[in-house]
Amino acid sequence: MQSPLPEQLPLLDLTERIREPEVMEVWSLAGFDPANLEHRQRVLALYPPTGRRTMYGFEHDGVVLATCGVGQTENGITVHQMATRPEYRRRGLGRKLIEAIVAKLDPATVRCGTDAPNDKFYSACGFVCESEGIPPSGIERFRCTLTRRQ
Ligand SMILES: CC(C)(COP(=O)(O)OP(=O)(O)OC[C@H]1O[C@@H](n2cnc3c(N)ncnc32)[C@H](O)[C@@H]1OP(=O)(O)O)[C@@H](O)C(=O)NCCC(=O)NCCS
Repeated sequence: MQSPLPEQLPLLDLTERIREPEVMEVWSLAGFDPANLEHRQRVLALYPPTGRRTMYGFEHDGVVLATCGVGQTENGITVHQMATRPEYRRRGLGRKLIEAIVAKLDPATVRCGTDAPNDKFYSACGFVCESEGIPPSGIERFRCTLTRRQ
C-alpha cells in the first residue's frame, strides 16, 4: 500500500544518483520507449560528467516519486525527463516538482518540448503550449513555455 505523502517534500538534487536503478526507473518513463537502452545512454550523456543537466526529484520513504531534468539556457531553463511513478500520478507531484524547481532557480523562462497528452499537464502548470504539428509517429508535438519575466 502507498504511504500517505507529506504536504511538503524537499527538492532533491539526484544528479549524482542518475544511474541508480530506482532513479533511472522513473526518469526513463519520460522516453518514448522507457526500456530502450540506446535512448537511455543518449540521455545519460546529457548529464555529468559529459553533459551539464541537473536531475531534480522527490523521494519519500526510499521511493523515488518523480524526476525532472533541467538544462540552462541564456534566459532561463529547459525541462526534460519529467516523470512521476505511475501509481503516484494525478496527486499533484509533477506540478509541485516544477514549482519547486522554479522557486529554487528563479528562471525568467521555462521551456520544454512534449507530446500529447502531456501538453495538458504543462498547461495546467501555467505554460503556454503551441502545436508543432503531427510528425510521422502520429503523436502531436508541442512547444511549451512558461514566461515569468520578459
Ligand atoms: C506528465 C506527468 C509527469 C504528470 O505528472 P503528475 O504527477 O501526474 O501530474 P500532477 O498530478 O501534478 O498534474 C497536475 C495537473 O496536470 C494535468 N494533467 C496531468 N496529467 C494529465 C494527463 N495525463 N492528461 C490530462 N491532464 C493531465 C491535470 O490538470 C492535473 O491536475 P488534476 O489532477 O487536479 O486534474 C506524468 O503523467 C508522467 O509521468 N507521464 C509519463 C512520462 C512522460 O510522458 N513524461 C514526458 C513529459 S515531457
